[in-house]
Amino acid sequence: MAVEYDRHNASSGANSYYERPATIALLGDVYGKRVLEVGCGTGPVTEWLVDHGAAVVACDVSAAMLEIARSRVGDSAELHHHDLAEPLTFLEDASLDLVVASLVFHYLRDWVAPLRDLHRVLRPTGSVVMSVHHPAWDWRNHCPEDYFAFLQVSEVRVEPHTVTFWRRPLTAATDAVSEAGFLIDRLVEARPNPELEMRDPSAFQELTTGPFFMHLRLRPAQPDGSVAGIGGKSS
Ligand SMILES: C[S@@+](CC[C@H](N)C(=O)[O-])C[C@H]1O[C@@H](n2cnc3c(N)ncnc32)[C@H](O)[C@@H]1O
Repeated sequence: MAVEYDRHNASSGANSYYERPATIALLGDVYGKRVLEVGCGTGPVTEWLVDHGAAVVACDVSAAMLEIARSRVGDSAELHHHDLAEPLTFLEDASLDLVVASLVFHYLRDWVAPLRDLHRVLRPTGSVVMSVHHPAWDWRNHCPEDYFAFLQVSEVRVEPHTVTFWRRPLTAATDAVSEAGFLIDRLVEARPNPELEMRDPSAFQELTTGPFFMHLRLRPAQPDGSVAGIGGKSS
């Protein structure tokens, strides 16, 4: 589905006018930073990071997605074929300023081990910006009878392809974040960019009145519970 996904991602309201702008807003200035992008897909964010002066390492489990990402960024980013369920052996401890994980963590059953590994490779001042399906969206669509269900579900997101992912309640996500040694700096329920109203009024209406994706920005807690640059101990 890589080619169809790439086309969809470039034009869909949910990606171009909602998810990606909210991700970029959380990244801040990336110029001169060493950034890891996990689940980079066909590389729209990879390309944005390169264009904005970051030194980028990116990875994805799909060779077909990576091939399109490669055609987008050439040799200006280091790309790896990698399953996030495995350790990031190609990265040294405390070697990154920022991690971007856009729409990938809901494909993983376990978040703790991959997040711990991201904690390992991040500098103390670093952060993780991630987006996932909003738990309320998946609740409404897959398990309205049980908000607390943690289960694998499938749906068609890009016609005609079915994708399978993990639906979890909000506290399963936040507990995994804490267990992996992170604190939540921001939790964002984005709204679409106003231009979407003209381009796709029904998508605009849907994304303005209900949650679809959720963004988190995480900061690594240090062994004494503090967060670099903030001071004080966390509880
Ligand atoms: C919805 S796409 C998002 C792509 C990209 N981050 C973006 O925002 O355009 C999800 C991506 O996660 C990748 N992915 C899924 N499971 C993965 C895993 N276990 N390890 C690494 N990548 C994975 C898929 O191959 C796909 O490229």
